[in-house]
Amino acid sequence: MEVLRTEALTINFGGLKAVDGVDFTIGDEIVGLIGPNGSGKTTFLNLVSGIYQPTSGKIIFQQEDITGAGPDIIRSKGIARTFQTNRLCLNLSVIDNMLLGLYSQQKTTWWQAIFQPAYCRAEIKASIEKCFQVLAHFNAELIKKCYDPITTIPLIDRRRIEIARAIVGEPRLLLLDEPTAGLNAEETIQMIRDIGKIRESNRQISIIIIEHDMSVIARITDRVVVLNAGKKIAEGLFSEVSKDEQVRTAYLGG
Ligand SMILES: Nc1ncnc2c1ncn2[C@@H]1O[C@H](COP(=O)(O)OP(=O)(O)O)[C@@H](O)[C@H]1O
Ligand SMILES: [Mg+2]
Repeated sequence: MEVLRTEALTINFGGLKAVDGVDFTIGDEIVGLIGPNGSGKTTFLNLVSGIYQPTSGKIIFQQEDITGAGPDIIRSKGIARTFQTNRLCLNLSVIDNMLLGLYSQQKTTWWQAIFQPAYCRAEIKASIEKCFQVLAHFNAELIKKCYDPITTIPLIDRRRIEIARAIVGEPRLLLLDEPTAGLNAEETIQMIRDIGKIRESNRQISIIIIEHDMSVIARITDRVVVLNAGKKIAEGLFSEVSKDEQVRTAYLGG
């Protein structure tokens, strides 16, 4: 079943076509998005998550044309993401950062918060329980740290919290931008296991992962798509694509 499709997706920054005519599809699977530095991988995720608007082309999510929708609308339709650089609020606690992931789904209005506080409290309580469930599944140790400020949390746990925040709202599609960047070899293995767990617990989630570590790509993706200078140059199983002449040249050239 198709979850997301892009058709000839293109964005120009001045004279530069950062993403150039990309046809992409993902079903119930983990797709790796690979390519040399500057090949347009992050820009592609920025287009799919509504941060950038395409110059031309289409984005179809669960049969609906979402081209031109902004990040809030896209989030509420079921596409969540993490960023290449840490976007947690450092001065907030683990649980407060997690609650931000549910903010767009909260139904309580400011009026109810003042005049129907019980309703508001019940909703927050349910949200906190949901955050605990996700944290517990991901890494039970994190619950013990949930009132600690992010500044005291090591990098790997910050990554876990970012992913947990993205999935707490039960998205249909998760976009991960270099989740293992900066982690050591052992932490990278833990991160691969954690990402695998997301789909074990919830088969109804598709994942696009950008990753520069090819051993990670080989282990966790069902399929890869290769970008070079904004264009899709190959797709298929990693074992096949990694033998492709054009792909090898793109990497060596980069
Ligand atoms: N907002 C922007 N304005 C101008 N150029 C940009 C912008 N975002 C990305 N680019 C350019 O688009 C190209 C692709 O960048 P990016 O998608 O970040 O690459 P990757 O994630 O594959 O390393 C690069 O040349 C980059 O400099
Ligand atoms: Mg990038």
